[in-house]
Amino acid sequence: MASAPRFAMASPVGHSVSEFSSDVVVGLRHPGQKELPSKYLYDAVGSALFDAICVLPEYGLNRAGQRMLERYSGEITDRVPGPVVVAELGSGSGQQTRWLLEALARRQRVNYYPIDISGSALFRCQQELGQIDLVSIVGFERAYLDGLQEVAARRRSGERLFVLFLGSTIGNFDRPAGDQFLREVRSILRAGDALLLATDIEKPISKLVLAYDDPAGVTAAFNKNLLARINRELGGDFDLAQFEHVVRYDETERRIEMHLRSKAWQRVTIREAGFRFYLREGETIWTESSHKYDSQGVIQMGERAGYQCAGQWHDSEWPLAQNLFFAV
Ligand code: TRP
Repeated sequence: MASAPRFAMASPVGHSVSEFSSDVVVGLRHPGQKELPSKYLYDAVGSALFDAICVLPEYGLNRAGQRMLERYSGEITDRVPGPVVVAELGSGSGQQTRWLLEALARRQRVNYYPIDISGSALFRCQQELGQIDLVSIVGFERAYLDGLQEVAARRRSGERLFVLFLGSTIGNFDRPAGDQFLREVRSILRAGDALLLATDIEKPISKLVLAYDDPAGVTAAFNKNLLARINRELGGDFDLAQFEHVVRYDETERRIEMHLRSKAWQRVTIREAGFRFYLREGETIWTESSHKYDSQGVIQMGERAGYQCAGQWHDSEWPLAQNLFFAV
């Protein structure tokens, strides 16, 4: 008898070219500071570069996340009584999740739903995690909330939803948008559902800057690939040699900011968008922020959004917190 497939993909919806195009134009027209939405960093090239970032010695965040889940998955899952179904927002290639799924699979069959806007990341996630006994995977190539809504609609009564939001991706939202996002997630959940949220903790500025501006230039390539993607998909004519990857830490906002700085006055045309604009020498395009937290602040952030904290775990080498919340 043929065995049921261990993984499948919900039909992809992805981003339409026109949505990408209009987001790009809105960002580049932004008065004052030009910007580009960071979610577009993750095409196939960007996702592969991000995986490379995660093995850089300077970028300890991902390894800390893995170390902690290897160590604490048993404790964490013990606090989330079954039966549960697991949804992961921005699974990437899914390496951190293995430990949690293995811990859960010791007590139950697990349906795991990774949600990611990168089809190539989902594919690797399914390869990485598709072989775990008693775990079946259905990937959703969707924006986070759209995917989560679909997963919530599939759960059966009596099943608890266990949402994972790892990698400190919450930090890529501005603080008010982060609060708002957690509230939106909450509105899809039922009381008693769980959320495991990883948050990068403040650390010395020099360490943070190196983590986002590594000497080998992998993060610079990751950042510049956004312009290359616009060239590829929207017929842009960005000259990548005329841009520099710039990282600063804003002490008031407590965040790393990543920019692309124009080395000269230049004109750029994006054919498919029918859009042309100018950059002054030294002017930047803001591509990403990564907010940092303190442990107490994270608990309050969760409480403001309708959750209660049921546990917080820390890594001693790279300050990072894994926060377990329940929807109240
Ligand atoms: N969520 C990750 C972080 O904030 C994303 C990230 C890591 C990232 N390195 C990056 C995003 C470099 C853009 C550029 O740490």
